[in-house]
Amino acid sequence: MKRVASRWLMAAGGLACLVPVLFLGLARLGAEGSAPAALASAPAADAPPATKLAVTRSVWEGVYSKEQLGRGQKAYNSLCARCHGDNLLGGEEATPLVGKEFLKNWTAKSVGALVEYTRKEMPSDGPGKLSRQQCADVTAFLLSANSFPAGSADLATDLEVTNQILINDKK
Ligand code: HEC
Repeated sequence: MKRVASRWLMAAGGLACLVPVLFLGLARLGAEGSAPAALASAPAADAPPATKLAVTRSVWEGVYSKEQLGRGQKAYNSLCARCHGDNLLGGEEATPLVGKEFLKNWTAKSVGALVEYTRKEMPSDGPGKLSRQQCADVTAFLLSANSFPAGSADLATDLEVTNQILINDKK
């Protein structure tokens, strides 16, 4: 009788040891099992509704006006030229804002992204002070300098509009 009881005790002890191990294992499985699911669903939850991302125009379609270009050039001369140069070719202070290298950085992005970059990052030595109108105007000037044609209407200050215009170095 005594022997049998001690065997039971040993078995129970063994089980007691196994239980936490099992728990840990299950917890791990649970974590691993749910992680990819959470990752997969995150971008979908964060992404704006598809309609907002839809690109409806390209920079080849005349997305700014000649008048705006004039204002943009003035703004450029007073706010940007000291670093990016009178001819937009850049220099010691800054990168070029025309040509292959520049377009490579912005192709497949939206005009809205370019406007916002200027608004939030430029001038690099004191950003965040330009109005949305100034940023739209100066962006019109940059588009013109990169050979994208003028059209009949101003480039909007509304990001929802400019986010739908695609920068594309080829027609
Ligand atoms: C104080 C000097 C300075 C001034 C003034 C300045 N920038 Fe810049 N800009 C820079 C520097 C430096 C960079 C490169 C930043 C980097 O690579 O992180 C840059 C980068 C840029 C870029 C990105 C270029 C690319 O190839 O992606 C744009 C667009 C730009 N500037 C626009 C402007 C506009 C528009 C103005 C005027 C409103 C302006 N900058 C004024 C220094 C300046």
